[in-house]
Amino acid sequence: MNLSSNQLAYNLFDLHSVAIKRGLEQDGYFILKNDEFANLVIAAKNEYFSQLSELELHPQKSRLDRKSLTRRPWRKLAIGSTNGVGEPYAQFLTTTYFSENTSGLEALNKVFSTLLELRNRLFGIPHVLESDGIWDACRIHHYPRGGGFMSEHRDTHFPKVLGTSGMPFLQVSACMSKRGADFHTGGGFVIDKHGEKIDLEAYGSIVMFDGNQRHGVDCIDLDTLPDYTAHTGRLAAFTNIYEILS
Ligand SMILES: [Fe+2]
Repeated sequence: MNLSSNQLAYNLFDLHSVAIKRGLEQDGYFILKNDEFANLVIAAKNEYFSQLSELELHPQKSRLDRKSLTRRPWRKLAIGSTNGVGEPYAQFLTTTYFSENTSGLEALNKVFSTLLELRNRLFGIPHVLESDGIWDACRIHHYPRGGGFMSEHRDTHFPKVLGTSGMPFLQVSACMSKRGADFHTGGGFVIDKHGEKIDLEAYGSIVMFDGNQRHGVDCIDLDTLPDYTAHTGRLAAFTNIYEILS
């Protein structure tokens, strides 16, 4: 997909950029609801679940070959008392990495490209180039029922990586599951600039927050056992800038 032709992102930016920037500055977060994007999320979620049984689940320490992503998504377990780059907060989820150009996954591609284009337009930056030593990590965080969680934290590693580039570390994500249907208790939250805990479970919405605000995911459905293949749980799509490690 040609990112420059993402009309949905352009429309969202044109209609909401003032409110988004004001919300991020005043509250540290903004939740954007749009019917077209919500319909896209429903289709993308079906595509994600259609892939699940075909994707090998790799262990936490496995290394991703990002160049393989245009052929096939790549799924890993993210579990432990630290995250994948050693930051000291505990987590339990699976992460599936995607290209934004995977054939057969058009709705997912469009969700990612819309999030990327919106982020880029909000900050007036070009599409991230691998030659800059960074890349756009498009992925779905899947918190299984039966204990999926991420401890409350601030993002510290990647803002440091981006320190020399001058780019802010804005989290731009899509809420891809519905509390009450896909899971029942727990979910994503951010502590806003006024100290209030804000529930981020707004199915089909674009959820944006400053990674410097404390945030996390409260335990999902502790009354059951985890099943990595189940078409349930808490899902969110992210498109962060990562550094290239090799
Ligand atoms: Fe984070």
